[in-house]
Amino acid sequence: MAKRAKPLTPVDELTKAQARVELTRLALEIEGHDARYYQHDAPTISDAAYDALRRRVEDIEARFPDLVAAESPTQRVGAQPSGRFAKVRHAVPMLSLGNAFADADVTEFVARVRRFLRLDDGEFPIIVAEPKIDGLSLTLRYEHGELVTGATRGDGFEGEDVTANVRTVKDIPHKLKGRDVPAVCEVRGEVYMLREDFLALNRKQAAAGDTVFANPRNSAAGSLRQKDAGITAARPLKFFAYAWGEMSALPADTQFEMVNWLGHAGFVVNPLMTLCHSVEDVMNYYRGIETQRATLGYDIDGVVYKVNRLDWQERLGFVSRSPRWAIAHKFAAERATTVLNAIDIQVGRTGALTPVAKLAPVTVGGVVVQNATLHNEDEIARKDIRIGDTVTIQRAGDVIPQVVGVVLDKRPKGAEPYRFPTTCPACGSHAVREEGEAVRRCTNTLSCPAQAVERLKHFVSRNAFDIEGLGEKQVAAFFDEGLVRAPADIFTLKARDGKKGPPLAEREGWGATSANNLFNAIDERRHIALHRAIFALGIRHVGEGNAKLLARHYGSMDAFRAAMGEAAAGRSPEGNASEAYADLNAIEGVGKVVADAIVEFFAEPRSVRALDDLLAEITVEDAERIKTDTAVAGKTVVFTGALTRFSRDEAKASAERLGAKVAGSVSSKTDYVVAGEAAGSKLDKARALGVTVLSEDEWLKLIDSK
Ligand code: IVH
Repeated sequence: MAKRAKPLTPVDELTKAQARVELTRLALEIEGHDARYYQHDAPTISDAAYDALRRRVEDIEARFPDLVAAESPTQRVGAQPSGRFAKVRHAVPMLSLGNAFADADVTEFVARVRRFLRLDDGEFPIIVAEPKIDGLSLTLRYEHGELVTGATRGDGFEGEDVTANVRTVKDIPHKLKGRDVPAVCEVRGEVYMLREDFLALNRKQAAAGDTVFANPRNSAAGSLRQKDAGITAARPLKFFAYAWGEMSALPADTQFEMVNWLGHAGFVVNPLMTLCHSVEDVMNYYRGIETQRATLGYDIDGVVYKVNRLDWQERLGFVSRSPRWAIAHKFAAERATTVLNAIDIQVGRTGALTPVAKLAPVTVGGVVVQNATLHNEDEIARKDIRIGDTVTIQRAGDVIPQVVGVVLDKRPKGAEPYRFPTTCPACGSHAVREEGEAVRRCTNTLSCPAQAVERLKHFVSRNAFDIEGLGEKQVAAFFDEGLVRAPADIFTLKARDGKKGPPLAEREGWGATSANNLFNAIDERRHIALHRAIFALGIRHVGEGNAKLLARHYGSMDAFRAAMGEAAAGRSPEGNASEAYADLNAIEGVGKVVADAIVEFFAEPRSVRALDDLLAEITVEDAERIKTDTAVAGKTVVFTGALTRFSRDEAKASAERLGAKVAGSVSSKTDYVVAGEAAGSKLDKARALGVTVLSEDEWLKLIDSK
């Protein structure tokens, strides 16, 4: 976040001389941000803060038109109004992949697929294996065979419009080949750079005194996201097609044939893509690619396995943001050794005490590492990590570096085993471990200052309330001063301003304009999307993905709040028995662990009060609910007995996908009971209540009917 030493003078109070000075400074500042964003792919301010800088330039120039200089950011040709790329909503979300690191993870993936599909013992789900390209993913939309849009992945739901840049990449056809091209084709794949091209580009850049990139992936990303497509054109970008999004028709019915079709349509597809007919084939493929890795010419970070049959992919569906039908098998991470200087204990928003290794700086895979995670108490004990030890650390992809182990020969004399604290370093309360949990937590959930601050930081974070001018630092300062102790306090700041202590405008680091800007930014967030509001609550296990699932399922804060209230009220020492809980647990992608954490949150009167206080200050917009136009949308279904046509997981997933709720018990609110063989008491209850009972075939016919 950019820090401004002095508050801004309102534009209409600026003298011409001040305006001239400020315009020059802003032009330089914006140029710097542009370079970090476009060339280095490492922006240091939010889009909103950047837009505010540009707006300030526009406002000043509007007042002093004769100060508009040729090199002003407003005069640059080809720039978007905001100077950044426009946003594009993906018709079909661009998901990520689950990871497998060990062979056992791959075996488990195959086993899971088989269980889900209920495959016979002899039947193997044929798997497509292909390299996992270390570049950036791109989606290309073709309408009637013509390229219309190219967009980056972004957050998976919304990316950046890079159409002009994409058109300069030679591997990307402007027109699809072949006669029977579907009217809408969204082709997905990876933009990357060959290693030798990357090195040559870096040599050229260095000679010209321009940016050098850390690795081919950054170089590809930086080159694609250029404001001036002419620069992209001069960069040696390449593209492999391996997937698709929205298609008005599917030209094939397997993954393998689809990718071959992409090849015929004019794309470059990876020649190493192979079909595997057994787990052994899969493992051999992995080892084969690993040995070729260094000589491929481009960076890969693993291989990807995908179930070949598209109808099976469809049945398998997704959990949260990754498909059940695919997985990435990663290569081992890069390692280095260094000295462990200290162990810091950080307190998270859920009270978890996380040990962080403070290391003598060391370069691993091109990045300088100074901190690494030590996971938890048991890991430190198991590896017998002591302060002063020389340790091996590793980095795998974008994951936080980890301490793998100790180089015992180098242990200094007198190094003592590490004693993990049993009290919270922030509030001194007991820190305990619950049975079966590896994490030690501060027990003072409601008033540990470290937890409260972390919750507030989370609340204002980018994917939550994202309040301009209210970052981690400001929230922590407001907390320390007692101005903001709970989320609702943020929204009453203005009303309370100056009533206790000096007004914000007179405080250190603030002025009339910046205080005013903050109050305006807070007001702007009084209307907020449901998924953001849910995510902001900081409920354990409820990340962005789950928040979106919940928003789509419940549709409104009122419905969510009411259902969770019901689920919390239905809690008992024996477990969660309410219908509301069963309904929550049945949402595709929301598992028991998540459901329990949400109910736990709502069972705590103080969290509910904090939420209600917040809701008194803000308006939460309704979300678009999941499918409503299917035969079973909005219906409540109970599956019972031994199912033979599909597994229980699959039944639940497909019903959910079509907008039905899957409940665990039969009540008068149940619409259908789908009874497999040997159905027992639930079937009896359904009959007694007069609920429609369907066989598995009748159910399949029903969900197929619309
Ligand atoms: S398939 C629904 N295949 O890996 C899954 N992804 O970790 C669609 N990637 O965002 C992705 N090579 O950028 C797929 N051969 C490949 C890939 C690949 C690289 C990237 C892709 C994706 C990320 C997921």
